[in-house]
Amino acid sequence: MDVRFEPSGGLRGELTAPADKSISHRAALLGAMASEPVRIENYLHAADTDSTLAAVQALGALVQVRDGAVVIRGTGLREDREPDGPIDVGNAGTLLRLLPGWLAAQEGRAFTLDGDESVRRRPVDRIAEPLRLMGARLDARESRFPPLTVHGARLRSISYELPVASAQVKSCVLLAALAADGATTVGEPARSRDHTERMLLRAGVNIHRNGRHVTVVNADELVLDRVVVPSDPSSAAFAIAAAVLVPGSRLLVRDVGANWTRTGFLRIVQRMKGIVLGELEDESGELSSEEPICDLDVAHGALEATTVEPEEVPLAIDELPLVALLGCFAEGDTLVRGAGELRVKESDRIATVVEGLRGLGADVEATEDGFAVRGAGGLKGGVIDAAGDHRLAMMGAVAGLASREGVLVRGMEAAAVSYPGFVTDLATLQGG
Ligand code: S3P
Repeated sequence: MDVRFEPSGGLRGELTAPADKSISHRAALLGAMASEPVRIENYLHAADTDSTLAAVQALGALVQVRDGAVVIRGTGLREDREPDGPIDVGNAGTLLRLLPGWLAAQEGRAFTLDGDESVRRRPVDRIAEPLRLMGARLDARESRFPPLTVHGARLRSISYELPVASAQVKSCVLLAALAADGATTVGEPARSRDHTERMLLRAGVNIHRNGRHVTVVNADELVLDRVVVPSDPSSAAFAIAAAVLVPGSRLLVRDVGANWTRTGFLRIVQRMKGIVLGELEDESGELSSEEPICDLDVAHGALEATTVEPEEVPLAIDELPLVALLGCFAEGDTLVRGAGELRVKESDRIATVVEGLRGLGADVEATEDGFAVRGAGGLKGGVIDAAGDHRLAMMGAVAGLASREGVLVRGMEAAAVSYPGFVTDLATLQGG
């Protein structure tokens, strides 16, 4: 679907962004692993998280939507049903990486995960390695890509240093650790989103953080009861970027997730002198069982260039395309370093962002592990191909509103995996 986004007048009004994708995936998976029914309020109804509900149903969980909430009666930690065919993860990289952690503990049973063309390019060797060390057997295409078959086994605990800062890989090992014997420790090279750790703590699991290391002790059961999913800061980021860029904008974002491991983008915008006010959670070494929320007050203003350093990257990973876009409007050179992980997202986001923004008139270059943008006071506009990547489609839309001549986004339907109402929400703010 091609959609044109014309240069816009100020965006005004209030936005409640859709529910958090990462937390919804985790709530569905932990709900399916729990012993008692779990009620999930404000679950994200989008393509990626629908894939997770379908997957847990295929594994024997009962899923009902009641009064707008999702209620899951799970199978417990070790009693998955072996489905008749492959589990379809669709476009969802998070499901592809987290689910095998649980499946690896299903002794004597085998499960195959497959998905769309983009998922078939997402590496799974990063989860296969620790799961093999724990005792499971995994087979992948070319040892690296889906389809992935997980042969469940009796698992042993491990101490594992992640080669990349990936919340997906960390979470996979933590889920497997629940059914392993003893205590498993995972170290990450830089802090990444910690929703899994918080939800496990809430579910009564013995889990601790010590700096960049998390230790989880095996559990008999998860007891979760009720999860309320906050709005997704990564989805809100697109309207926030639009409000920062388009003159005359003033936007109130309601009840958005303020977990500090997800708000790196907001801190980067603030450093660029963007006007974003709100009570963000402070960095903490202590593990919390809560997911804090806050309101944000956003307004248009001039921007200064910045450098995003490697340790900040996991805290803003999905918003880095927006940092590149903001860089086009900022005074000076904006640099993103240490973001090689962008190459293995829904698209090679270093290549697609650079190519996409260049097509709109940006002065931007790819580096080995990020990009360098020369601020040129704005963007002319043009045509951008979403390359099947939801974040690229939404970045193109925001670019259009802030551009001088408008932007045609090819493949806007990609936004549906995380934010089905995105185009409508933008239009409402334009009329607000
Ligand atoms: C996610 C973690 C990130 C992020 C993805 C969602 C998660 O991936 O890019 O959109 O829910 O854990 P990595 O952990 O692989 O960087």
